Amino acid sequence: MATLLNLIAPVGALLSGALAQTGVETNLTTYMYPDSNITAASVYSVNGSKVAPKGADILTVGVIGDYGWAGWQPSPDDFCLKVLPYLESLGVHSPNEVRNDCDPGDKQYIINATQMQMDTSAYVGQICAMKNCSAFISVGDNFYDSGVDFTTAGILRFEQAWVTMYQQGVFDYAPWYQCLGNHDVVPGQSGVDFQTKVAPLYDDRWYFGTKGLPYYTYDLTGSDWSATFVVVDSDCFLSSYQKNTSVYYNSYTQACHSTRQEQLDFLSSTFSNSTAEWKFLQLHHPYRSAATNETDLEPLMDIVVAHKATVMNGHDHCMGHFYSNDTNFILSGAAGYPQAGDCNNGTAPGPYAKFLGANSLSAANGFVTMDISKNVINVEYYLRDMTFDGGDLYSVVYDLDPSYNFQITQHSC
Ligand SMILES: *[C@@H]1O[C@H](CO)[C@@H](O)[C@H](O)[C@H]1NC(C)=O
Ligand SMILES: *[C@@H]1O[C@H](CO)[C@@H](O)[C@H](O)[C@H]1NC(C)=O
Ligand SMILES: *[C@@H]1O[C@H](CO)[C@@H](O)[C@H](O)[C@H]1NC(C)=O
Ligand SMILES: *[C@@H]1O[C@H](CO)[C@@H](O)[C@H](O)[C@H]1NC(C)=O
Ligand SMILES: *[C@@H]1O[C@H](CO)[C@@H](O)[C@H](O)[C@H]1NC(C)=O
Ligand SMILES: *[C@@H]1O[C@H](CO)[C@@H](O)[C@H](O)[C@H]1NC(C)=O
Ligand SMILES: *[C@@H]1O[C@H](CO)[C@@H](O)[C@H](O)[C@H]1NC(C)=O
Ligand SMILES: *[C@@H]1O[C@H](CO)[C@@H](O)[C@H](O)[C@H]1NC(C)=O
Ligand SMILES: *[C@@H]1O[C@H](CO)[C@@H](O)[C@H](O)[C@H]1NC(C)=O
Ligand SMILES: *[C@@H]1O[C@H](CO)[C@@H](O)[C@H](O)[C@H]1NC(C)=O
Repeated sequence: MATLLNLIAPVGALLSGALAQTGVETNLTTYMYPDSNITAASVYSVNGSKVAPKGADILTVGVIGDYGWAGWQPSPDDFCLKVLPYLESLGVHSPNEVRNDCDPGDKQYIINATQMQMDTSAYVGQICAMKNCSAFISVGDNFYDSGVDFTTAGILRFEQAWVTMYQQGVFDYAPWYQCLGNHDVVPGQSGVDFQTKVAPLYDDRWYFGTKGLPYYTYDLTGSDWSATFVVVDSDCFLSSYQKNTSVYYNSYTQACHSTRQEQLDFLSSTFSNSTAEWKFLQLHHPYRSAATNETDLEPLMDIVVAHKATVMNGHDHCMGHFYSNDTNFILSGAAGYPQAGDCNNGTAPGPYAKFLGANSLSAANGFVTMDISKNVINVEYYLRDMTFDGGDLYSVVYDLDPSYNFQITQHSC
């Protein structure tokens, strides 16, 4: 595991000679390490993040989302309930991070949520040891409640909620193909820069493409098959985030909303250029959901439908399988604090909802695995038996077996 400090020193020394050979494709001059002349782009591709192994007949990957709770420090009640409304009454606007860290629901969940993230990380490690997962595919919300940026507080959160949370066994080597969620963009550009440009240098398991952008593509390559993944930042597509009252309204989301056509073009051109058997769109928000169908994502979905691709998303804090528009939607948003309401308390709102990992009282923690091979992708939903001293928040009789599975056999085009 590379740390930022031990990377910067040798890279600085190597810089002039090494850069020519490193294949840095784009100048990312927007990010500059403090007190140095080293741009993120300069060091970005020197060695790069880990990637999944190539050449397997069957490659297993884990799909995981909505996990990053550990270490979150909410704003205190005194501030949230008294000072914040008083400031607002005077027309003093508090920063979005500060407002967001007052979220009353999230404040109520934090103790349980942290424990659930820890228990679920152990469960994911156990299943992945059994199944030999080679990589993790993240669908975002990496750091509640207000993301991380390049500050001491951000670094501490990065360590607590991810670096040390996912360790040992498969976690020691498997790369995480990362994605941004709504919580990740609350700090704006500085938060996005930390996750897309700094984190890959901080820890080589954290993968965010090769250009330091919030959208990117990667391929997984087997012995006789390949799969093309496109990651986009769905935060840029939601019109609700463009309201000036939204905690997600900042210069980053404004800019990427106005340039969202770039992400559409990137998705379209990457899918068109790819001859892979399998194509995936990896993003945070759901187009098909048991809670809220984000119709603003329609332009992305037109491209998905045209290429017979599969969608992986999070945001709803539960696990689900939806089939609509001849497309599979894999929801894996349950690696942190699961919420039954996000899966309509377990009741399918229509025949498009094939599976919901919830009941009338609670939703399960867990994640999804995909066993990818030439002719079939086996998709398995692992739901954790949530026993605790004095009860069971979600009962699964034998949770080392998947609670649900389905197969994708229709190749992409
Ligand atoms: C990268 O930056 C250097 C120095 O500012 C400049 O000379 C070069 O043209 C830039 N390359 C690209 C591809 O923009
Ligand atoms: C940054 O570059 C400038 C101009 O090349 C140079 O004078 C300065 O010493 C450099 N600073 C560091 C920290 O290397
Ligand atoms: C890059 O990898 C090589 C070979 O593993 C290693 O010797 C070198 O120290 C690494 N460079 C950095 C900057 O981590
Ligand atoms: C796990 O899967 C990878 C990729 O197919 C393979 O290289 C490796 O040998 C497998 N490990 C075990 C223990 O089966
Ligand atoms: C937290 O977990 C306990 C069981 O440990 C449960 O009884 C309680 O309802 C949970 N609280 C919340 C807010 O989820
Ligand atoms: C938000 O937008 C509304 C109408 O679009 C405007 O009246 C208001 O002044 C704006 N508030 C801020 C803080 O910019
Ligand atoms: C797709 O291929 C065209 C033609 O080779 C190329 O210009 C374009 O950059 C490629 N798009 C992507 C996203 O790789
Ligand atoms: C969400 O989409 C599905 C599939 O098209 C549809 O059946 C359902 O009614 C939609 N839900 C809402 C609340 O619009
Ligand atoms: C999905 O199907 C619905 C009707 O069932 C249609 O209104 C919508 O435009 C379709 N979306 C896409 C992306 O094809
Ligand atoms: C789910 O159940 C809770 C608690 O019983 C209730 O408040 C909520 O309205 C239900 N939500 C849905 C979508 O049915």
